[in-house]
Amino acid sequence: MLAAAMSGDGKDAMEPGFAAAEIDTSKPHPARMYNAYLGGNDNYPADRAAVRQIVRDFPEVPAIAKANRAFLQRAVQFLAAEAGIRQFIDIGTGIPSAGNVHEVAGRAAPDTRVVYVDNDPIVHVHANALLTGSGTTGIVLADLREPAAILAHSALLELIDFTRPVALLLVAILHFIKDEEDPAGIVATLRDSLPEGSYLALSHGTLDFHPPGDADQAAAGYKNATAPLVLRGRDQVSSFFDGFDLVEPGLVQAPLWRPEGKRPRARDLEKIGIYGGVGRKAPASF
Ligand SMILES: C[S@@+](CC[C@H](N)C(=O)[O-])C[C@H]1O[C@@H](n2cnc3c(N)ncnc32)[C@H](O)[C@@H]1O
Repeated sequence: MLAAAMSGDGKDAMEPGFAAAEIDTSKPHPARMYNAYLGGNDNYPADRAAVRQIVRDFPEVPAIAKANRAFLQRAVQFLAAEAGIRQFIDIGTGIPSAGNVHEVAGRAAPDTRVVYVDNDPIVHVHANALLTGSGTTGIVLADLREPAAILAHSALLELIDFTRPVALLLVAILHFIKDEEDPAGIVATLRDSLPEGSYLALSHGTLDFHPPGDADQAAAGYKNATAPLVLRGRDQVSSFFDGFDLVEPGLVQAPLWRPEGKRPRARDLEKIGIYGGVGRKAPASF
């Protein structure tokens, strides 16, 4: 799979500071584990073993991953079809799977521009293979913890016009950023680069939907997981929307954000520990 995704000399379009040799398939990896939760094929025995271990302790995790992916697609559909957004910056892209951002947005408006950003070389390799030949999508290998470098990246600047509204997607990524790495400051730096009328779509893991007795045990388990997560409560997740006005229905459990068809049943929402929301950048207040 990996070899097929790379160009003949094995170098591909890897950026300075990153090498294909860094792709180690012997260790479980968050992007490939997420791909396994979603039922994808771009994962290896080490990833599947780690997923089996987590699912033994937390059987709800694959359902959370699927609820998150569905939220991403509904949010992009809203942004492209209802809000009229034609430019997306998707940070924390993940390994491409069904219903990628450029596909969902492209159905609403084929000229939509999408820049994918991820710090994982394997995501970069897969995304490059998928996007070859497209003039409206770009892929940037960069780290969310360095937002200024993302904003100054030539591949991003080629596609994104910062005088027109942009949708910034931070979907299932901020829970990988520790408090001491200043996630709120990172979001603020990105927000300040966006013109008024831009949007932020965000999802974030939480323990708020676990029964109280479960939450401590779950917190300890997730902390020891292969990809430790910083699960945050509602107030902290809401604060990432500072400077944005949340659109209806606000910050909610992800399956409840503008569900298609029937409202999910209460029993299908239990332990689905992921918030989702979309906000529109508010006019500057002086
Ligand atoms: C759970 S996946 C989410 C994929 C996609 N946004 C979705 O919701 O379907 C998280 C992605 O974030 C990426 N990621 C994690 N930390 C990152 C960082 N500091 N900078 C850039 N990407 C990061 C991982 O490599 C992975 O591809």
